[in-house]
Amino acid sequence: MKILITGGAGFMGSNFIKYIMAKHSDWQVVNLDKLTYAGNLENLAEVSQNKNYAFIKGDIANKEDVARAIGEGVDKIINYAAETHVDRSILEPDAFIKTDVFGTYTLLEAARKYNVAQYIQISTDEVFGSIKEGSFDEQSPFEPNSPYSASKAGADHLCRAYFKTYNLPVIITHSCNFYGPNQYPEKLIPLFVTNLLEGKKVPVYGQGQQMREWIFTQDHCKAVEAIMEKGQLGEVYNIGTGYEKTNMEITKFILQELGCGEEMIEYVKDRPGHDWRYAINSKKLRGLGWQPESSWEEGLRRTINWYKENEAWWKKIKSGEYLEYYKKQYGK
Ligand code: NAD
Ligand code: TYD
Repeated sequence: MKILITGGAGFMGSNFIKYIMAKHSDWQVVNLDKLTYAGNLENLAEVSQNKNYAFIKGDIANKEDVARAIGEGVDKIINYAAETHVDRSILEPDAFIKTDVFGTYTLLEAARKYNVAQYIQISTDEVFGSIKEGSFDEQSPFEPNSPYSASKAGADHLCRAYFKTYNLPVIITHSCNFYGPNQYPEKLIPLFVTNLLEGKKVPVYGQGQQMREWIFTQDHCKAVEAIMEKGQLGEVYNIGTGYEKTNMEITKFILQELGCGEEMIEYVKDRPGHDWRYAINSKKLRGLGWQPESSWEEGLRRTINWYKENEAWWKKIKSGEYLEYYKKQYGK
């Protein structure tokens, strides 16, 4: 089996490469990644010397780069590559449209040309928009509210259309929020943990009452593996845990674990168009035999410990370009 994983130097792509290569020592894995600010080859140190692993630096929106990564062919493509941060999409949407929409189109065209047997699009629950009560299922209409979620929704529509029009073997996943080791410290959990480890306050948007559903890295890897093995082509699978938390619940848990008090909270201006609540129904995926294994608390403790033990990893990131973004975002 030869698989192309795009965006494999990022948070979840790198976790998936390490997971799947440990499970299948005979699989060949090609990682195509542009190495944007979010891509970090240090995430892949443990597989970089493996003879079945190859890294290609390139852009999913460039068809020559994609052809180079596919070489003489691959059996499967899993598209993790994307611009992923909502706040960045509000500041500068351009790269989101280029990578998330045009990049997905370029990959779909390549999958068609090279007769790939399975193409998995890693997408998000954010395409459905916000829901006050209940949860979205796979048939719910898309109502994206940020340039990020709109670009992911555009890509998902293309995936669906390529299945319907060309019978391309596509499967789409909509996952709730990921957390775990190697997440870039711009997202809620790693930002708050690393800020507190540095003795800085944590910027809570509005009153922190928005809700998200959360999945630990390892559980997401297992869900994608189950979909690769048992998912039906042309189908859509929500990947959710039911672990719903307000941002304030998460903030208080992290504060407590790190021995900090609530004076470390700084209430800042709310995000424009801020989605109130995401929640998805993942019954269909459970039908494939998957269920989350980590409790929310266990996953969060493991995550906090990873950041405590890997200061060199995030300290290097939290300098240079990062500081410029942070200043733009939080005004200091
Ligand atoms: P990330 O931002 O940590 O990493 C993205 C990776 O994609 C980086 O390595 C980056 O270099 C690479 N990349 C960006 N543009 C590229 C391009 N044009 N060509 C090639 N590589 C490029 O992302 P993540 O948080 O691990 O998310 C992975 C996927 O999962 C994304 O598709 C995202 O939309 C989706 N997703 C994320 C979450 C979440 O909570 N983070 C939830 C649901 C779905
Ligand atoms: P984030 O990690 O950016 O993921 P997403 O917006 O894709 O769900 O944010 C998670 C929640 O945390 C979201 O409601 C916004 C909030 N948040 C803050 O309150 N402060 C912050 O500094 C960040 C980055 C997020």
